[in-house]
Order: sequence, then structure tokens, then C-alpha cells
Amino acid sequence: MVLYDIKNATDEELKALIENSANDELLFAAADSVRRSHYGDEVYLRGLIEFTNYCKNDCYYCGIRRSNRQAVRYRLTKEEILKCCRDGYVLGYKTFVLQGGEDPYYTDDMICEIVSKIHSEYTDCAVTLSIGEKSKESYRRYFDAGAERYLLRHETANEAHYKKLHPNCMSGAARKQCLYQLKEIGYQVGTGFMVGSPFQTTEDLIVDLRFMQELMPDMIGIGPFIPHSQTPFSSFVGGTLELTLRMIAILRLMFPYALIPATTALGTIDALGREKGLKAGANVVMPNLSPVKVRKQYELYDNKICTGEESAQCRGCLERRVNSVGYRIVNSRGDVRR
Ligand code: 5AD
Ligand code: FES
Repeated sequence: MVLYDIKNATDEELKALIENSANDELLFAAADSVRRSHYGDEVYLRGLIEFTNYCKNDCYYCGIRRSNRQAVRYRLTKEEILKCCRDGYVLGYKTFVLQGGEDPYYTDDMICEIVSKIHSEYTDCAVTLSIGEKSKESYRRYFDAGAERYLLRHETANEAHYKKLHPNCMSGAARKQCLYQLKEIGYQVGTGFMVGSPFQTTEDLIVDLRFMQELMPDMIGIGPFIPHSQTPFSSFVGGTLELTLRMIAILRLMFPYALIPATTALGTIDALGREKGLKAGANVVMPNLSPVKVRKQYELYDNKICTGEESAQCRGCLERRVNSVGYRIVNSRGDVRR
């Protein structure tokens, strides 16, 4: 059956799986069993610190794109970032994800200083960066400073589709090159895409899967596209819960070893979206550790959840949610199990 040999599935078989809801129950059950055989009932925490919403890019889907003049911009100081880590550490976090727009205000020296400070202060923790496209030299410097993981979604692996989501100065080829460079340097690499982004076809999703079969990322983050009212894509419809869950399950079967988050975007389009994501094969949750005063401002899409909660509240909330569907949060670094 194609479910258990999905790595060798043909494009036609994948297309049938992606477009047909009839197999969903079997698909989710198969994904859950593969996930349990690799990771048991463990769910890993990533503490997300959204440290700047300035961005020099202008992606058509994103609420913090530089052309959005209504976005209220902020930057966290090194001290504020370290305070987030301190709060997170007390709550049991062993991974800190520094995420931001592409903001040239933070020089490589500053990023390295922040990374090495966290790395030396919390020796049992992993530092993850998610700050976009940089030169290979920069990536190497961050790695040498102690960043072990890097998240950079490819967004779509089809170049023609990529061009429809981004201004001409950006390219899918450049994005992929960054991902390969990160791998070469030795990072644990995360990539991913939005489900239901404007103009996306089933063929595009298959190209995404094929690209990742080549890259073999350690982490794969996907979530539904959700329109943001102050972007050129404000009137497009968002990605669905159903298709996102189906793609999570397919990813789990294709990449049994992968770390796959049940994302905030999934929790935004459905009150139990993250729980459903876990049941479809996800094994990571990424609660927010950003200071509450800036949370609302890191608005990539409309109606983002968890923007009013304190870090401790999100920790407790997720614990209950994860337990409610039969899994267990563990306070470990949650490294990939190849
Ligand atoms: N809807 C859903 N996800 C989005 N992202 C950016 N804008 C949106 C949106 N409108 C995702 C992108 C990016 C990640 C940080 O957030 O995939 O890589
Ligand atoms: Fe933030 Fe539930 S995870 S309130």
C-alpha cells in the first residue's frame, strides 16, 4: 500500500493522496504509528523569540513586509532577548528560536554576540536562528558562535510559483542555495512551506515534497496560508485545515525522522488545530516567549493566537493541549533522531 512505501510513491499516487479526503483516517493513523515508532509520545518545545519585525523584504503574503506602512515596528535589545531566554529556561525550555524579519540593524557581530551569550549561559540548550537569507560566511559565523539549528522555509519549490509570491529581487534558487549552504556548514536545518498559498497547485505541493526528498531537512514546518489584511494577498482565501493535516501526515510518512511542528498558524485557523496536527504526525510545538508588549506586532497574518498570553500561560496551555490528545511534552533539546 502506498502509505507504507510513500518514499517510492509516484507523482500520480501522491496526487491522489493529496486531493482525496477518503484516505484521511488511514493516513493519519499510519502517520501516528510511524511517529510513535520514532519518537514515542514525546512532544518537543521550541521557545520562539520574535525579536524584530523590521524586514527589508516585501513578500506579498507577509504582514511585516516592508511596504506595510501600518505595521508598528519594534526591535528587542540584547538584554530583552536574554530576559526571554531566562523566562523560558525556568519554564523548562531547552531550545530557543530567535526569529525575525530580515533586519540589517542586527549586524553579524550583534547576532554572534547574542548567540554566544545564550550558548554559554545555557549550555544544555540549543540555539536556533530564523533570520532569513544571509551569506555563507555569515551563516558560518553564527554557527561558530553556537547556533546549531537554522529555520528557513523554502515557501514553494516551484520557481514559477515562487515568483508569484515574491518580488522579482527574490528567487527560489537563492533560497535553496542558502539551505544547502546551511547543511554544508553542519546546521540542523528546517525548511517548509505554506499550505494553500495563492496560486498553489497539487503539482506545486508534489514539487515541495520532491525538493525535500533531496534536501532531507531535519525539521519541516508547514502551516496554512492565512491572508493578512494589509498585504497584496488580503483577498485571497486561506489554506484549509484539512489539506494542512493531510500534508503533515504525508510528511511524517515520508520523513519518519523529522521534527514537525504543529504550528501557530494551524492553531489560528482552528481552535484545536495544533492538537489535530499532533494526531496527524506533528511532534513539536513552538510556544511564544516574546514579551507580551510586542506580540501583537509580530503579525505575519490576521488573528494570530497567543498574542495576549504570558509565556508561562502558553507553557501551561500547551501542556494541557498536548496531554489531551495522548502525547507528552518533554523538557529536552529534542534533537533529530536520524
Ligand atoms: N500566512 C501563513 N504563514 C505565513 N508566513 C508568512 N506570512 C504568512 C501568512 N500570511 C510564514 C512563512 C514564513 C514563516 C515565518 O511564516 O512561511 O517563512
Ligand atoms: Fe499560548 Fe495556548 S499556547 S495561550
